[in-house]
Amino acid sequence: MSLYGDDDENVGTNPSTAPHLGTLIEARLSRRSVLAGGMATVVGFMSTSVLLPSAAYAAPRAKAGRTPKGAAGLLGYDAIPLGFTDVVGVPPGYSARPFVPWGTPLLGSYPAFRPGANTASEQEQQVGMHHDGMHFFPVKGSQRGLLVLNHEYTDEQLLHRGNKLTPRPSRAEMTVDQVRKSQAAHGVSVIEVQDTGGTWTVVRGKKNRRITANTPMRLTGPAAGHRLLQTTVDPAGCNPVGTINNCAHGYTPWSTYLTCEENFNGYFQTAPAGTYNAEQTAMNARYGVGGDRYYWAGRDPRFNLTADNAQEVNRFGWVVEIDPNDPTSAPMKRTALGRIKHEGAFVHVTKGQRVVVYMGDDQVNEHAYKFVSNANWKSLLARGKDPLDEGTLYVARFDQDGRGTWLPLLHGRPGLTAADGFTDQGDVLVKTRLAATSVGATPMHRPEWTSVDPNTGAVYLTLTNDGGSPAAVQNAANPRKPNPWGSVIRWYEDGDDHAATSFTWDLLLLAGQGRSSNDGSTIEDADAFGSPDGLWVDRDSRVWIQTDGTQPLGANDQMLAANPFVTDTAGAPELKRFFTGVRGCEVTGVIDTPDQRTMFVNLQHPGDDVPDSTWPAVDGYTVPRSATVIVTKDDGGVIGT
Ligand code: FEO
Ligand code: CA
Ligand code: CA
Repeated sequence: MSLYGDDDENVGTNPSTAPHLGTLIEARLSRRSVLAGGMATVVGFMSTSVLLPSAAYAAPRAKAGRTPKGAAGLLGYDAIPLGFTDVVGVPPGYSARPFVPWGTPLLGSYPAFRPGANTASEQEQQVGMHHDGMHFFPVKGSQRGLLVLNHEYTDEQLLHRGNKLTPRPSRAEMTVDQVRKSQAAHGVSVIEVQDTGGTWTVVRGKKNRRITANTPMRLTGPAAGHRLLQTTVDPAGCNPVGTINNCAHGYTPWSTYLTCEENFNGYFQTAPAGTYNAEQTAMNARYGVGGDRYYWAGRDPRFNLTADNAQEVNRFGWVVEIDPNDPTSAPMKRTALGRIKHEGAFVHVTKGQRVVVYMGDDQVNEHAYKFVSNANWKSLLARGKDPLDEGTLYVARFDQDGRGTWLPLLHGRPGLTAADGFTDQGDVLVKTRLAATSVGATPMHRPEWTSVDPNTGAVYLTLTNDGGSPAAVQNAANPRKPNPWGSVIRWYEDGDDHAATSFTWDLLLLAGQGRSSNDGSTIEDADAFGSPDGLWVDRDSRVWIQTDGTQPLGANDQMLAANPFVTDTAGAPELKRFFTGVRGCEVTGVIDTPDQRTMFVNLQHPGDDVPDSTWPAVDGYTVPRSATVIVTKDDGGVIGT
């Protein structure tokens, strides 16, 4: 595996990477631009160059007048060192326990976990694989709730063999039941959980549910029924089946869960060149469609993109809204939020009660987006409309001077006319990436999670790394090249109005091995980390950052918290490492209970690419399994204090 791993997000498919690229490279190579007082400051370290936009890269600051009392003591725990073992690390005075691993009996006949031996039908009644984004919907305060979590993808070897020694079934060997089992291990789990005297257990309640790659759904919003979403099986173009590669998530003030379809492209088998029309061919190229990575296409014709089934792939890449309180409800694919490799969908409510959804598109040189509802969400619901169907999608342009603009993706505007290849708004939404390029959006280094600080209104976005791609941009908002370590960018919407169309941005930090390492990182050596991915700002403004990928000294993935109100003399926010994962895992997904005294954290794919993880070793099995970790403070206090 390369330094960057083997994700296809590392390979850019955006052919039009940067209107500014030429001028930026020129700035990077010429120190005279600095001496002459130009916009760019260039810091050169061996082979790493960092282009620091002088106006934007002021010391990270809290918003004027908004620094809360007690901000200096926001991170009250003792930071822990990097982790290298197969044991979860948390600070002194905290405890961590595994919960609901892959295969946990959930509903129906509650079939017991049998590594590699469960049938498809049994997997449909168990918790899925590869836990990711997650939310806790309270049922009874902080003691009982619905834990809803995504299952991003599957390890086909573990799924069908139950060990890391026997090779996965070949494409030819895959049976119909094995394909169905793989599809059943994908999707979302709704799990009723309760705290009984300090121990969390699964409630065998009526709301427990599995949503999988075979669950009937609906397409809604401006692109529902569009010609590009119609198939032979569903000529109406409104009734897709299944959700896949459910990465990060969101949740709404009306208590629904949003699951985001990320790397949907890799699930399909493509046909030889010339099979599809020029429009579909261009879309497939930009979204990187093909690969049949899970070997489904030979047994499930939906995933075989023949000439008669070319448009099935267009029915994936959406944000899907789920009502966890109604297990009979159909999940809704909300087309107004665009079709990208959706990482997360963080919902924030404006003072006027409009909903704003911040979203990243995780591939090198892709973009950051937001959706803004066109009215108060309560009034929309009262009129029988879903707030996520009624509004405008925007894509971000980050300018070198620290300002930014939200560019509306509306049919008929410059760049989005019929002459540009967009015949209607449905075209704009199904071909969101192409539309974003057409209006001049800023290419970024793999946009992952977003979160909004509920106290200051600051918006944060993790940019995980540049994928090691020579074609990765170097621009003011993505200033380092090469960038194996990633960064966290932040912005404030003008007028503190999240529906605004302009903003001011800066960089919270450039991750890496620390300032003495010459890798361009802006953080202290003790706080070293790389590849920020999962992100969440809690009620008190702690910025929780989770990692997926390159770590200093080859350490395990981790979670830290940042205090945005305290910065050192070099401008880095106070950081404290809070959590270290086990061997081979990614740390992704974090939420707490309303009383902030229980935190849920997901560990995905322990044992991936390493031979020696047996975590979590529950139920008498030592096969490595994705699972949730429950973190509590031994004195019953608020997590992070
Ligand atoms: Fe599924 Fe971009 O992480
Ligand atoms: Ca992620
Ligand atoms: Ca990632």
